[in-house]
Amino acid sequence: MMLMNNINLFLFAVFSGGEAAHAVKRFTGLYTGPYFDPTTTTNITTQLGTHAYLPCKVKQLGNKSVSWIRKRDAHILTVDRYTFIADDRFQAFLVESTDTWTLQVKYVQARDAGQYECQVSTEPKMSHFITLNVVVPKIEILGESDIFVKMGSAVQLKCVITQSLEEPAYIFWYHDGERVLKYDKNAIDIKLDQEGPDTTVSTLIIFHTNPEDSGNYTCSPSNLDSASVLLHVLNGEHPAAMQRGKNSASPIPGWSHLSIGLGLAACTSPRFAVTIALTLAIISEVLAC
Ligand SMILES: *[C@@H]1O[C@H](CO)[C@@H](O)[C@H](O)[C@H]1NC(C)=O
Ligand SMILES: *[C@@H]1O[C@H](CO)[C@@H](O)[C@H](O)[C@H]1NC(C)=O
Ligand SMILES: *[C@@H]1O[C@H](CO)[C@@H](O)[C@H](O)[C@H]1NC(C)=O
Repeated sequence: MMLMNNINLFLFAVFSGGEAAHAVKRFTGLYTGPYFDPTTTTNITTQLGTHAYLPCKVKQLGNKSVSWIRKRDAHILTVDRYTFIADDRFQAFLVESTDTWTLQVKYVQARDAGQYECQVSTEPKMSHFITLNVVVPKIEILGESDIFVKMGSAVQLKCVITQSLEEPAYIFWYHDGERVLKYDKNAIDIKLDQEGPDTTVSTLIIFHTNPEDSGNYTCSPSNLDSASVLLHVLNGEHPAAMQRGKNSASPIPGWSHLSIGLGLAACTSPRFAVTIALTLAIISEVLAC
């Protein structure tokens, strides 16, 4: 029962928060009761997936309660140490040495962005508002999602992470699910560069590509989603080489159709077959005609 009354009071205060804060500001100018430390921040920016800490610094709190309320839906998140939402990512704790009630939001999601109200149970209520901004980092491997190189030539894959507040602890590369390591410095190089305050670049270089180097390359930072590209190492100029690749994805749209088309054309007009270099498979098809 006591709890219900409290919640009603809190809800009332959410809707009258602005006015209450005004009224109290005049009163607490005398410092006879609780007041918000004027240095308390009003704007917190955090990265998606990290923990956010929203501080509420209240002096002379006495035996008053501190609640955190989410503005979006007026949901009471916490009252003192108690969490009032069925989402255990939200938790409030007091650091007594700094008179700060901090709302912790774990594993921040994009929808957590918005205003939060720190409310003190004075009569009338006092409110302090903090805006939580959520930054979503972007990751991409530069260039096309299918990369074609001739066997023996070098290839460089650049994985670029932008809008990142926290530098990843590491960035791993995977080739068809297996970690790429610098066993042989003459064969492979992996470099990590910090380019500006919110941009990290990891570069994978294969100096002399072999057909076995074909496949899915994934750039996987410690704290973010990953990005992938498909590398196709062409064994000579021959289209057939590509069809033997590990990946089912058709590397160049039309090429596979072209060879089937040639196969059919060859059946009806055998002279065609002589003028064009065909794969052994297609030649045997022609012979079968
Ligand atoms: C809050 O911080 C973000 C990111 O630093 C900034 O873009 C925004 O303008 C700030 N808002 C206010 C009201 O200061
Ligand atoms: C808070 O403290 C004041 C005096 O310090 C007292 O009168 C009041 O009853 C207390 N309130 C609660 C809810 O304990
Ligand atoms: C490459 O591998 C990653 C990780 O296993 C996977 O998520 C992605 O879909 C693959 N990409 C392609 C094009 O096969």
